[in-house]
Amino acid sequence: MKLQHRILVFLFTFFSSFRLFGGEGMWLPLLLKSLNEADMKAMGMKLSAEDIYSINKGSLKDAIVSFGGGCTSEIISPNGLLLTNHHCGYGYIAGHSSVENNILKNGFWAKSNADEKICGGLTATLIVRMEDVSSTLLKGVGSQDFELDRKAKIEKNVAAFKKEYKLNKNEELFVRAFYNGNQYFAFITKTFKDVRLVGTPPESIGKFGSDTDNWVWPRHTGDFSIFRIYADKNNEPAEYAESNVPYQPKHFLPISLDGVAEGDFTMVFGFPGRTNEYLTEEGVRQIVEVQNPIRIRMREKALSILDQYMRKDEATKLKFAASYASISNAYKKWIGENQGIKQTKGLEKKHERDALFQQRVDANANFSEYKNLVSELESQYKSLEKLSRATEIYAEAFQRNVSVMNFYSEIKEVMTAQEVRGEKIFIEKRNELHEQAEALVSGFNKEIDQEIFTALAQIAVEEMPKELMLPYLREQLKQKSVNEFVVGLYRESKLTDGKELKKLTELSYSDMAAALKTDPLWQFYDELNYYFANDLSKQSVPLQDKIVELRRKHMAALMQVIPEKKYYPDANSTMRISFGRVEGFSPKDGSCYKYQTYLDGVMEKYIPNDYEFDVHPKLIELYNTKSYGQYGENGKMPLAFIGSNHTTGGNSGSPAIDAYGNLIGLNFDRVWEGTMSDINYDVSICRNIMVDARYILFIIDEFAGAKHLIQEMKLVHPKANSSKKKKKK
Ligand code: ARG
Ligand code: GLU
Repeated sequence: MKLQHRILVFLFTFFSSFRLFGGEGMWLPLLLKSLNEADMKAMGMKLSAEDIYSINKGSLKDAIVSFGGGCTSEIISPNGLLLTNHHCGYGYIAGHSSVENNILKNGFWAKSNADEKICGGLTATLIVRMEDVSSTLLKGVGSQDFELDRKAKIEKNVAAFKKEYKLNKNEELFVRAFYNGNQYFAFITKTFKDVRLVGTPPESIGKFGSDTDNWVWPRHTGDFSIFRIYADKNNEPAEYAESNVPYQPKHFLPISLDGVAEGDFTMVFGFPGRTNEYLTEEGVRQIVEVQNPIRIRMREKALSILDQYMRKDEATKLKFAASYASISNAYKKWIGENQGIKQTKGLEKKHERDALFQQRVDANANFSEYKNLVSELESQYKSLEKLSRATEIYAEAFQRNVSVMNFYSEIKEVMTAQEVRGEKIFIEKRNELHEQAEALVSGFNKEIDQEIFTALAQIAVEEMPKELMLPYLREQLKQKSVNEFVVGLYRESKLTDGKELKKLTELSYSDMAAALKTDPLWQFYDELNYYFANDLSKQSVPLQDKIVELRRKHMAALMQVIPEKKYYPDANSTMRISFGRVEGFSPKDGSCYKYQTYLDGVMEKYIPNDYEFDVHPKLIELYNTKSYGQYGENGKMPLAFIGSNHTTGGNSGSPAIDAYGNLIGLNFDRVWEGTMSDINYDVSICRNIMVDARYILFIIDEFAGAKHLIQEMKLVHPKANSSKKKKKK
């Protein structure tokens, strides 16, 4: 081959592999060998599928831990040291903070094991193994079965399977549906219940940039915290006990000191929560045009009211920081999602996919049973549209964004416990709520709550389809304005402030019922709740069930009709692997984002005494003196980087792993432009955001001086080693 020709072939394979593989997909670890190993190796991975997931030997999966149910974490030392995000550990860090000892503000580093802080209720779950149990669970299920029969058969099969399955001590088992119910997998897990807080940077590092920078690249947040798993003397899960010892894992992740370069292979290993990648065009249209706009409009209002109060004084700002953050996190995501769908022509793409599917189905007699799938889905979605709209309006206006209503739904759950399961469970639930009550009501403010309630109720009245208006509200509004109605409720209700609500959690069932019965705000809540559970659900549930059935059939049909595409199951909070590359992106014509940020950016964003952008004096000093220890690179301190790994909520705290199996970063967010990856991943603008492992080590070592933690870890130089090996050859 001529040299020129060879270069061309090389360039072609290089660029085509660059684009063809990686990026989209959240894959099942036990199927890597058959589905992904070759692609991953072509992208530069040096591991085998067996190194990542094995049930015969220690593998990467043994270091990946579900953290408290909602986040991911990973083991980074032979003594059970656990790394996760600051925002995942937040509740526990805040819980151990007080005015005298504010570790949220100042950070905390345990000097020895004895110094670590107990975190009641925090769990760490390891996956022992997973199994495809589709044939067992779908035994006897026919493709023509009525949905109810199908459900009943599967439930029976699950019960029989669970009964027969031999679990070892401390193991638990659950099954989950995949590919919209076409496949089932079983997960055998081990849950550790003694997990202690070891270290956290001050909030000005762990949450630097706070809500303003949330979902945004370029990013400068050191979003990490450190915990430790404890076990009994046999290395098995145990409730907290002083005699417990650090857990000895089957595997822990070494940490690379070599950093990342553009194009490097990366994978993210964790527990992504929920995606909807296989919706038809109409399914996506309803998210983009019905659901998201209502959510965005409501939250914009709620946030602007909160913001006005928070700007008045520091105490109010602090009091509402948590609830502002949670309302704004999803708000900002939905805006990005809609913009991204528009920019990448997401609807058109789904349209084309639906059309291709239809064309092939129409042309092939073997597919005749799929003929009406897409159109039936469309008409079911359309029938549901008004009801979905109403449900969304009620939820956003009267539940999610109004603190008192949030608390009422907790109370409702406690009351229902008595009604359905008896007094014993009622007392259990009530006591649980009592313990959380202080934290729940700490951000309550009657004045702000009432203002938000009024504003959102006004939007609800404007947006609500007339015939789905809560009859009680319709009656009330015949005589008064929305404002008069809400002011009246708040004036007459005794259950609008934290103290009163907390008192409720001390009452017996009958006293609680009596206190609620005469309260006008509770009456409104109860009317709404009743309307939801009866009138609205009666209409919407059958339609939703039908959509679930059609989506299952559509998924199976897609895989048959368009078989040249590789299908990964939608996220469902089970263990997955995404892989991609370290790469920047171009969100808009003429603009381009680099893949890496540095500590310099923190100093650019620095606003003294600001609650989002203040910088710790020690960090400024380290910056000024360039004291980066062994962690800097060419006189600069790398801070965060982005890559084309497909991630979602729940991947927070997931490790970013290099080609050799070492930790190179800690996943904590996605770029705003690409948040539509939950419904339409597009490698051109979807990027996940990771804290650079070197920044984490720098903060622990140079900033906090916690050298004993560094000594526990295994720091490696994979790039240097591999180039040495090459030279030897
Ligand atoms: N956007 C990230 C995630 O969805 C981080 C959220 C926590 N940070 C915050 N500033 N609210 O969950
Ligand atoms: N911050 C998210 C989490 O808590 C991860 C970001 C995302 O949604 O990708 O899981």
